[in-house]
Amino acid sequence: MAIRETWATRIGFILAAVGSAVGLGNIWRFPFLTAESGGAAFLVAYLFLVAVIGLPVILVEFVIGRESKQNVVDAFPEIGAPNWQFIGAIGALAGFVILSYYSVVGGWVIQYMVGSLTGGYAGNAEAFFGSAAEGTNAVAYDLLFMAIVAGIVSFGVRDGLERAAKVMIPSVVGLLVLLAAYGATLSGASEGYAYYLSPDMSTIVTDAIGLLPDAAGQAFFTLSLGMGVMITYASYLGEDRNMLRDSLLIVVVDTSIAILAGLAVFPFLFAQGVDPGTGGIGTTFVGLATAFASLPAGQVVGFVFFSMLLLASLTSAFSILEVIVSYAIDTFGVDRKPATLAIAAVIFLVGIPTAMSLDYLTLYDAIANQILLIGGGLLLAIFGGWFYASGASEELQKGMPGGETFTTVWIWVLRVPVVLVLAYVLYNGVLAVAGIVQGM
Ligand code: PFF
Repeated sequence: MAIRETWATRIGFILAAVGSAVGLGNIWRFPFLTAESGGAAFLVAYLFLVAVIGLPVILVEFVIGRESKQNVVDAFPEIGAPNWQFIGAIGALAGFVILSYYSVVGGWVIQYMVGSLTGGYAGNAEAFFGSAAEGTNAVAYDLLFMAIVAGIVSFGVRDGLERAAKVMIPSVVGLLVLLAAYGATLSGASEGYAYYLSPDMSTIVTDAIGLLPDAAGQAFFTLSLGMGVMITYASYLGEDRNMLRDSLLIVVVDTSIAILAGLAVFPFLFAQGVDPGTGGIGTTFVGLATAFASLPAGQVVGFVFFSMLLLASLTSAFSILEVIVSYAIDTFGVDRKPATLAIAAVIFLVGIPTAMSLDYLTLYDAIANQILLIGGGLLLAIFGGWFYASGASEELQKGMPGGETFTTVWIWVLRVPVVLVLAYVLYNGVLAVAGIVQGM
């Protein structure tokens, strides 16, 4: 591959990267984790980690991708660091675990699309979630979701997907604004906002430290970080592009959508008197379904909303499967179509326990976010900060005139705070996963 095409337009790259970042992580995972973890303190920890850990690590992936112009497997040898190639293998493994349950949640979204039209969740949102989330329905719709993703990856209809992102992002934002505005008129709204947005200043520091592991896992998951998606996407990026500006845009769009999802979900939870700490993994779906059931023309609005959420999750799932498939193609020399089908089939099989039981979904989610993505991020920070600092600095400064001071700060942030926080988070993640396994 002598000449590598670059993104024709800035918007093509941004759409692909935002398409990967924005998904179930923003709209399903962020609100339920925030609800479960005490509300505003979690929001503070999460925003802090996105800025102080997420942004520096996204830049490491960007410089590796753009300098090497390779996928995650070939990137490290290309920039003279063949010993670090195993980061690609960890990334592929993380993708494997994530997609195996991401597709289950994607299957829930399809069931909610159907449920919007038939009025299935209108009577009892909790019962609908119970029957959608675990068991044979969940397995069947998981299979459907995986089949769609595998179809997209094996036929390489990526262009269509990027174009879809153009419609999807404004639609998701518009609908969330609508829901949030409607939620603001409900009687429980102010309690909801207080829970979500006003941290207890006297305990915020201790609260936030306790929440660091979950908040860091969420920061990596939502930004699609730690497994090489952003390395691959940046490998098509031209050298005249200011990567700091691009990454800020991606981070701001992704974070705003998550915050907005919280604004749409919390008023409805409080209006119904649901204790946010007890809903667990179903909190967001139950909250949204209740909202649509009470909204005028809610069946239509609900259907449109879940369709857009499906698109958002497909663009994210696509980026995960693409990393694994290109890893397999480049490492083992297999053909794209059979590789895609075989990998998708294995991922589906591995994910069946998570469709049968929410306990397994929780376990897989913890392994992926608290160990694999964090481990990948820690290695990227050590590599970028300590082993590849001058190459990384030089690469970042292309397209960013006068960026020397920023670059120096960036490298030192990677070297010390990012490495320390991620090592702490990884240690806690291992303990947390061991705890989940013991409790099963
Ligand atoms: N960022 C996606 C979301 O928030 O839904 C999920 C994801 C995609 C995680 C790609 C990791 C990844 F590599």
